[in-house]
Amino acid sequence: MTDLIEIKDVHHAYKTRSGPLPVLGGLNLSVPEGEFCAVVGPSGCGKSTLTRLIAGLMRPDAGEVWLHGERVVSPRRTVGMAFQNPVLLEWRTILDNVILPLEIVATKMPRKQRVARAEELLAMVGLSGFEGKRPSELSGGMRQRASLCRAIVHKPDVLIMDEPFGALDNFTREDLWQTMRNLRSAEPFTAVLITHDLRESVYLGDQVIVLSDRPAKTQYVMDIGLSEDRPLDILYEPHVGDMLQTLRDQIRIAQGRGGDRH
Ligand SMILES: Nc1ncnc2c1ncn2[C@@H]1O[C@H](COP(=O)(O)OP(=O)(O)O)[C@@H](O)[C@H]1O
Ligand SMILES: [Mg+2]
Repeated sequence: MTDLIEIKDVHHAYKTRSGPLPVLGGLNLSVPEGEFCAVVGPSGCGKSTLTRLIAGLMRPDAGEVWLHGERVVSPRRTVGMAFQNPVLLEWRTILDNVILPLEIVATKMPRKQRVARAEELLAMVGLSGFEGKRPSELSGGMRQRASLCRAIVHKPDVLIMDEPFGALDNFTREDLWQTMRNLRSAEPFTAVLITHDLRESVYLGDQVIVLSDRPAKTQYVMDIGLSEDRPLDILYEPHVGDMLQTLRDQIRIAQGRGGDRH
């Protein structure tokens, strides 16, 4: 398999009034085509910065970011993004929110075809019948479902998500995990998911990357290797419990609290 995303020895510092703040300190990362990469790490270690670099919204001070064999030097249309706050436009219906990226990247596609594509995705995430609603008429979980549809409507090479389920309650979040897995089995895409929820990283990820504290490097990589058929109960199996413990320990090391298990 070829690597769709390649991040080579990336360094980045923000300029602040009190001097440069080094955020990424030689980060390396490879995500093969079709893989789901979950990224965890201490708060403020540079995870959101990493998503901006992959999307081409920023250029690193040093090192290289490659997407699909091309060096990323400017914003990429072939990237879909989803954030904790779904940022849907209130003056548009749910359907027209989902269609938005097609209006930008598929200008020649007839409206009928755009509508059919959006309807197909909304059905996949359980939002059939809500196409004509406004964002404020939907629950937080439903808005996030619509936002995921919008992020993949134009079939991006990669879907980048920055803590997309962070604001949802536990049950809604678990529903969304399953929605995410259904979407991926219906139309495979490569994904990078930033999360602070270790269960989420293991349930959704093919690999989980633990970043060190600032300036962040890749501290630990775990290949998940669970079966494709993944009921939520799998999270309570002993071998998955061991994986979660290992990740918890790695986060503690990243936070500089290696031996402390409390
Ligand atoms: N535009 C910016 N200018 C200055 N500092 C920033 C900027 N963006 C982020 N930072 C700082 O860089 C560090 C990493 O930020 P971020 O990538 O958002 O971390 P994370 O998403 O892991 O919490 C934080 O300390 C944050 O305050
Ligand atoms: Mg962040």
